[in-house]
Amino acid sequence: MPNRVQWSPGYNMGHETLDREHQNILAQCNVLADCISDAAQESDQTFQQTFNTLMAQAAEHFATEEALLTQSGYPMLEEHQNEHDEFDYLANEIITTENFEKIELQRFLSLWWVGHIVGSGKKYRGHLELMAPSPPRQITLALPTKTAATPGSAAG
Ligand SMILES: [Fe+2]
Repeated sequence: MPNRVQWSPGYNMGHETLDREHQNILAQCNVLADCISDAAQESDQTFQQTFNTLMAQAAEHFATEEALLTQSGYPMLEEHQNEHDEFDYLANEIITTENFEKIELQRFLSLWWVGHIVGSGKKYRGHLELMAPSPPRQITLALPTKTAATPGSAAG
């Protein structure tokens, strides 16, 4: 059985872009599940296209996430980057094995992504909340006091 995943409110990171990207990726996992359940021949092609889309979305998401964590000075950035590298490695391992099974790939992707979302939430949701831009502060400008350089006062 393919592993269908459902978005849970607990998956929200409170960051619009990251949440949207996570949701889109889980949606692709479910399209892959549909392709496996569907016996039609075109579903093989749809599976491949969906997998490619998911990998492109994953690459974009990792870039977004790394940029955000870098900007905000996340202390465990390297560990997070390793997780992304590990994903690329494992996904590529599965598709190049001789006994490549679509269901194995679908199950790997859905479990990995739920794990990533839940794990990221635990690891850096608090960090992002701390780093979220606070409402604009009132800035008091130190205006220069009137000097002798006013019109008509220049030394002649
Ligand atoms: Fe993520």
